[in-house]
Amino acid sequence: MTTGLNAPSRARISARTLRRDRWWLQPVLTVVGLVAWLVYATARVFQQDHYWVAEHNYLTPFYSPCVSTGCIPEAAHFGTILPDHPLIPYAAFSLPFLLLFRLTCYYYRKAYYRSFWLSPPACAVDEPHKSYSGETRFPLILQNAHRYTFYLALIITLINTWDAVLAFNGEDGFGVGLGNIILVGNVVMLWFYTLSCHSCRHVTGGRLRHFSRHPIRYRWWTIVSRMNTRHMEFAWITLGTLALTDFYVWMVASGTFTDPQLF
Ligand code: FES
Repeated sequence: MTTGLNAPSRARISARTLRRDRWWLQPVLTVVGLVAWLVYATARVFQQDHYWVAEHNYLTPFYSPCVSTGCIPEAAHFGTILPDHPLIPYAAFSLPFLLLFRLTCYYYRKAYYRSFWLSPPACAVDEPHKSYSGETRFPLILQNAHRYTFYLALIITLINTWDAVLAFNGEDGFGVGLGNIILVGNVVMLWFYTLSCHSCRHVTGGRLRHFSRHPIRYRWWTIVSRMNTRHMEFAWITLGTLALTDFYVWMVASGTFTDPQLF
């Protein structure tokens, strides 16, 4: 029997697939969802306006941390180190790492390999490519960097959490508005996504010979493993909460919508 990467992977049939269900729906929805999100995020990141609500200390996560000299001083919680330029996003320090974190994420890899690269588009559906080398060669071997981007994502999630905490202290002191609930909801989901990462699972429980000798790490690994089963959901939910949070801050900052204060 032939084994390995070059082994025949499907039965010798001429039909592309024998499946009769709508196997194409998931890849199509994935393309539409990811492209729509990327277009929105790119437009917003380069807008360089309406990202900060001074009255309530709301900062959109797309501009956090705001480190350009063009940032509104009150929004620059961590100082300004980048020059102000229309082609340099105000959060240019964190955005590339977040992009790398998601690009190399195990779930997103599966999603875009299937939907954009059609490799394969679905189970039991033939793919257009003649050979398959997995992630053993350049550039896909760089996907191994995911374990390092996990640590950077942890730092950025901590920064987003700090932004959400600061937002409770507006110009009139402590207060809770609809924006606070949205900011906190986004941060909670970002933690679920970040901590359910496969790399986090390895960090908490990997390289152990005996769980019985490491009860605390075993406990953490158990919790992370449970969250990990829903990693795909968190990946999509956080795309939604990030866009919603940004859109809300945009609307309030531009004066289109007034943030209702709950108390
Ligand atoms: S596997 Fe998805 S973020 Fe790490």
